[in-house]
Amino acid sequence: MTQPTDPLRLGVNIDHVATVRNARGGATPDPLRAAKLAQEAGADGITAHLREDRRHISDADIEGLMQVLTVPLNFEMAATAEMQKIALRHRPHAVCLVPEKREERTTEGGLEVARDENRLAHYIAPLRDAGCRVSIFIAADQRQIEAAHRIGAQVIELHTGAYCDAHAEGDLSTRDRELEKLREMSTFAQSLGLEVHAGHGLTFETVKPVAAFPEVMELNIGHFLIGEAIFRGLASAIHEMRRLMDAARA
Ligand code: PXP
Repeated sequence: MTQPTDPLRLGVNIDHVATVRNARGGATPDPLRAAKLAQEAGADGITAHLREDRRHISDADIEGLMQVLTVPLNFEMAATAEMQKIALRHRPHAVCLVPEKREERTTEGGLEVARDENRLAHYIAPLRDAGCRVSIFIAADQRQIEAAHRIGAQVIELHTGAYCDAHAEGDLSTRDRELEKLREMSTFAQSLGLEVHAGHGLTFETVKPVAAFPEVMELNIGHFLIGEAIFRGLASAIHEMRRLMDAARA
């Protein structure tokens, strides 16, 4: 059973280094360089989302990450045949299934597992057989967590976006309600034997309450860290996030 002293891992999402690179269509800033720097700064893993429209991370980035990383790669992808083929070719440490809509600016909600259980169970089986840890990005919703468990996922990543948005909007009652849902569903998921991760929209201001949940084993954080890197450097931003996570855990 997880104890409050279990270490909390920080996965650094480098997608938005690629967003800036792609804005000019050239080679800089290089997401691989950012990944290596994040590794040196204490990231426990690197997360990258290969979207169907390749708007940020490219196939070549994934190839490069598989070659240069010494920490695990958490490969985020939609549950499509194309992505399954790519994941099976690279066999990253973890595959995180996320919903994807072409018109969205970012991953807006959790994956609808309960309504697509049969297909997803068949979809993840070969990924598990290939040795990938299968994670499902879902809302803090008991029905979805139970479905993720039934299909054989080893990990769920709880979507912290609603909590972070409410905080940013100053809607404290919604923020606290969302946080409570995350807390309850972390406990519930762990009771089923699922490893619990969390992420989306986390910042220096919002990370601590989530990091304090003893069931949460990993946080995946990207956009805020890459933005903060403009002002203080990536290593410094990661060190500060790590410090806040450790303080919450202590
Ligand atoms: N976890 C998952 C599954 C995501 O899709 C994302 C966004 O790509 C993140 C974590 C990181 O979110 P953010 O970039 O807002 O920190």
